[in-house]
Amino acid sequence: MANKLLALCFSSIVLFALSVTDVLMMNESLCRNNTVLARNCCRLPGIINQSIVDDCDDKFPHHAPAKPGVKRAEGSCVVDCMYKTIGAFQNGTLDLDITLQHISQTVGQYPNFEPLVNETVSWCYRNVTENPALQNSVGCSFIPQEMNDCVKKMLFMSCPPSNWTTKVECDDLKGKIVEGCSYSSLY
Ligand SMILES: *[C@@H]1O[C@H](CO)[C@@H](O)[C@H](O)[C@H]1NC(C)=O
Ligand SMILES: *[C@@H]1O[C@H](CO)[C@@H](O)[C@H](O)[C@H]1NC(C)=O
Ligand SMILES: *[C@@H]1O[C@H](CO)[C@@H](O)[C@H](O)[C@H]1NC(C)=O
Ligand SMILES: *[C@@H]1O[C@H](CO)[C@@H](O)[C@H](O)[C@H]1NC(C)=O
Ligand SMILES: *[C@@H]1O[C@H](CO)[C@@H](O)[C@H](O)[C@H]1NC(C)=O
Ligand SMILES: *[C@@H]1O[C@H](CO)[C@@H](O)[C@H](O)[C@H]1NC(C)=O
Ligand SMILES: *[C@@H]1O[C@H](CO)[C@@H](O)[C@H](O)[C@H]1NC(C)=O
Repeated sequence: MANKLLALCFSSIVLFALSVTDVLMMNESLCRNNTVLARNCCRLPGIINQSIVDDCDDKFPHHAPAKPGVKRAEGSCVVDCMYKTIGAFQNGTLDLDITLQHISQTVGQYPNFEPLVNETVSWCYRNVTENPALQNSVGCSFIPQEMNDCVKKMLFMSCPPSNWTTKVECDDLKGKIVEGCSYSSLY
């Protein structure tokens, strides 16, 4: 428990130190060039209730893959829909308590991951709401997308040993996250 929190703090510091690079500008093709997928290194619990994910998936067509180096004008409408449905994203504002409440129910069901929920959600909430680059979008917001991605990155970085696949290629994915790759580009 203490070790897990320490690891989480450490990875937070590393990630925070590197947070000056704009994650949205990271070269996606470099992020995607891997021999393993993140889901095969650490199987993460669902962050948002699967039935809500499915409903939102049905409502919104997925984005075409971004052209390398081209900054998107809007965030994922699917994730925007998910956070609106749980009531955590209203009027362009992310609500920490509602987000935490929901993720405590989903991720919190897994005893190995439950101890990571509070710190992860609070840290990501701060990281996302304090990033001015995410505040403006033309259509669907970047905020829920980045929040969700951040939570997955942090859980991945602190993946409990019994859920982690010991493989050099998996460690390499942690390195890519530190370099600024999104979780979704590694998934
Ligand atoms: C935190 O925010 C910065 C941008 O301010 C971003 O580059 C970084 O990837 C974020 N960290 C995580 C874990 O999402
Ligand atoms: C992808 O990775 C391989 C092996 O790590 C490397 O040889 C190749 O240059 C990489 N390609 C790109 C586009 O980065
Ligand atoms: C993590 O591993 C435990 C066993 O150690 C297992 O019960 C649990 O389902 C795993 N979690 C996920 C999300 O796969
Ligand atoms: C991204 O990386 C690929 C492969 O190395 C390269 O072909 C492409 O020009 C890069 N794009 C940008 C915008 O840096
Ligand atoms: C959202 O904004 C509208 C108009 O600005 C306001 O009437 C409403 O009370 C706000 N709702 C919340 C939940 O803050
Ligand atoms: C997801 O939502 C369904 C329907 O509201 C509910 O029955 C189920 O318990 C929820 N699952 C989790 C993990 O909260
Ligand atoms: C997370 O926070 C809630 C409410 O503040 C608290 O009841 C719970 O014990 C905390 N869980 C952990 C693992 O720290």
